[in-house]
Amino acid sequence: MPQCNPDSTPRREGTRWPAAGEPEGGYTVVGRTPAEPVLITGCSSGIGHAAAVSLHDAGLRVYATARRVDTLADLARRGIATLALDVTDETSMAGAVAAVEAEEGAVGTLINNAGYGLYGPVEQVPMAEVRREFETNFFGLVRLTQLVLPGMRHRRGGRILNVSSMGGRATLPGGAFYHASKYAVEALSDALRMEVAQFGIQVVLIEPGPVKTPWNEVAAGSLGDTASAPGADPYAAYKAAVGVSFSWAASGPLARLGSDAQDIARVITRAVTAPRPRTRYLINPVAKSVVTLNRLLPGRAYDAVIRRQYRLPG
Ligand SMILES: NC(=O)c1ccc[n+]([C@@H]2O[C@H](COP(=O)([O-])OP(=O)(O)OC[C@H]3O[C@@H](n4cnc5c(N)ncnc54)[C@H](OP(=O)(O)O)[C@@H]3O)[C@@H](O)[C@H]2O)c1
Repeated sequence: MPQCNPDSTPRREGTRWPAAGEPEGGYTVVGRTPAEPVLITGCSSGIGHAAAVSLHDAGLRVYATARRVDTLADLARRGIATLALDVTDETSMAGAVAAVEAEEGAVGTLINNAGYGLYGPVEQVPMAEVRREFETNFFGLVRLTQLVLPGMRHRRGGRILNVSSMGGRATLPGGAFYHASKYAVEALSDALRMEVAQFGIQVVLIEPGPVKTPWNEVAAGSLGDTASAPGADPYAAYKAAVGVSFSWAASGPLARLGSDAQDIARVITRAVTAPRPRTRYLINPVAKSVVTLNRLLPGRAYDAVIRRQYRLPG
């Protein structure tokens, strides 16, 4: 079982929730909010890292996790508990949840944040890559949810935040598998919310628009060669057009309208601490306009707007 880093803040006295299997009502909860402890995936960079800091600064007990625990050293120095957690590895997921439950009784809030963008034409992306995308963005989230639910049910409360995307409600060119994984997260979350309301467990979707994080480089890198000659690759012009869009978050008009990781972390902290959180938080003007366009326009009109914006061939 993974060990928490020794630098993390020691557990406060008398603040333990009953563990799964222990009699209910056997503990007086002192000095703890129902949101605690908060377990977050994917904290090595970007939104997960910023959310760990923001929630810790708000006074909550946070367990920040990442595939490589050394990437969490600065969070550990702040007094945040850190653990190794790979969302594609059953042993790693079960071990991390067991470590938190051994310390705290149960997970109070799970934030499923780990994820990445896989881009490329449907015809060309190898199936192993398609499966890896779903293992990380969807199946890992499902399995972690299954692992924390018994503890949450037992303590009669909890909150699960799933970091989806505006891309879970509107599709943009080149990201078929990324969007499919986020649409899956949206559907799962909506169904789960109705299932677990009876146990006092709330399910919340976080839907960022463009955010300046390493996500953009990872997604752009997955697109493959964007400079091949049209004769060598029938999708060359399409990939080149999609490739240009990844620079929009860093420069151009979207850079001003896009969010940074701290903006999303603030919304996450609100969603974790609000007595009655919203079911979904769609963040920033770009996300709101793309989702609204997709909702209001007929399919062909939406395609035409997006194709013109991206200057897609054909
Ligand atoms: N940036 C955006 O524009 C944007 C917009 C909408 C939604 N989102 C979503 O926000 C979430 C966070 O992304 P971000 O923008 O903060 O990007 P990021 O900085 O690249 O962070 C992604 C995190 O996921 C982790 N991760 C990847 N595979 C993992 C695995 N198998 N197990 C555990 N962790 C894994 C990464 O860890 P490693 O360092 O180990 O790779 C990293 O910590 C993602 O779900 C993303 O889809 C991002």
